[in-house]
Amino acid sequence: MQKIAIIGAGRVGEASAQFIAAGRLCREIALVDIHDGPPKGVALDLQQTGLVLDSDTHLSGSSDYASIAGAGLVIVTAGLPRKPGMSRSDVLESNVQILDSVVEQVMRYAPDSMLLIVSNPVDVLTYRAWKKTGWARNRIFGQAGILDSSRMAAFIASETGLSISDITTMVLGGHGDNMVPLPRYCTINGVPISHFIETKRLDEIIQRTRDGGAEILGLRQNSSAYDAPGVAVTAMVESIVLDRKRLLPCVALLDGEFSQSDIAIGVPCVLGRNGVERVVDLDLDDDERANFEHSVASLRTDMALL
Ligand code: 2OP
Repeated sequence: MQKIAIIGAGRVGEASAQFIAAGRLCREIALVDIHDGPPKGVALDLQQTGLVLDSDTHLSGSSDYASIAGAGLVIVTAGLPRKPGMSRSDVLESNVQILDSVVEQVMRYAPDSMLLIVSNPVDVLTYRAWKKTGWARNRIFGQAGILDSSRMAAFIASETGLSISDITTMVLGGHGDNMVPLPRYCTINGVPISHFIETKRLDEIIQRTRDGGAEILGLRQNSSAYDAPGVAVTAMVESIVLDRKRLLPCVALLDGEFSQSDIAIGVPCVLGRNGVERVVDLDLDDDERANFEHSVASLRTDMALL
C-alpha cells in the first residue's frame, strides 16, 4: 500500500503513525486534525525519526482533508477522549458527530479506501460508519480485540513468569465493560491456561483485562492508553498491507455469524489485502454464548441512541 491516512493527530494517532512508519508498512502517511499545527508538528517530529529507524515513509500533516486523496486505508482516531470515571459509552454522543463529519470527508476524498475505526465507543462507531458509507462490510472494521487480548497476555506473562511470545489469548465482544475474554482459547504454547493458573486467579486477570483501559486512564489521569492501542492498530495494518491473512480479533460487521446480524462487534477475523476477508464463527459453550449475548445486548442499547 502506497498511502495511509490517519484522522486525529492525538496520542493514538501519533503512536499508530510512529509504529506504522517504523515498520515501513507504507510509502506515505497523511495525518489530519482540526487545526493545521498539531498534525504538521507530529508529522515533522516523526519524519525526523527516519534516519535512526531506517524508514523512508513520508509523513505530512494538515487540516485539509484533500491531503488524504489516494489513501488505501484511513484510520480514524479522532474523538473526545474519556476522562477518569467515564465509560467508553459516555463519549458516544460527541464522538458520533465527529465520526459523521470524518466519514463524509473520507467518502469525498478517499472513496475507494478501507476504514479502520479506533475512536470510542469503537463498536458503535464502526457500525455507524458502515451505515453512513453503505460500503461493503469487508472495508469497514475496528480495533479493540488485539488490544484487549494483548492486555490479557501481558497479565498472564507477569503471573506465570513465562514468555509472552508463547501466550495466546482471545478477547471477543464489545470493547467495554462487557467484553468477552475466552479462557478456553487461552494457551501457553498450546497448553491450556488452566494448567498454569487456577480459576479464581484467572477470573481476577479477566476482570483486570475488562478494566484495562480504565486502569491506565486512572493512573495517567490526563490520557487514555496509546502505546498498546498504537501497536494493535499496526498489527491490523501489517496484516492488510502485507496480505498476511492473520487471524485477529477485530470489530467486524456481522451477517449471521455468531447468530447476529446488523451489528459491529469483536470477533475473530482473517485480515488481508481486502480488509476483513472472513469472520471465523466459533462454537461457543453455554457460558461463553451467554457472555457474548450480554455484550451484544449492551451494544444494541448504545446503538439505539444513534
Ligand atoms: C483503551 O482501552 C482507549 O479504549 C482504549 O485503552
